[in-house]
Amino acid sequence: MTDQDGREISVHQRTVALCRCGRSARKPFCDGTHKATRFRATSGA
Ligand code: FES
Repeated sequence: MTDQDGREISVHQRTVALCRCGRSARKPFCDGTHKATRFRATSGA
């Protein structure tokens, strides 16, 4: 996995979730904050 500048992002898990709400403290990964903010993507899952 790489970021927008091509730098490698170290992933130590078999499954990862990327943040779509923009509020995660662990970007680019989801940390569950979307639940507290009740984020809903307009485009769906
Ligand atoms: S989608 Fe952003 S914290 Fe989960």
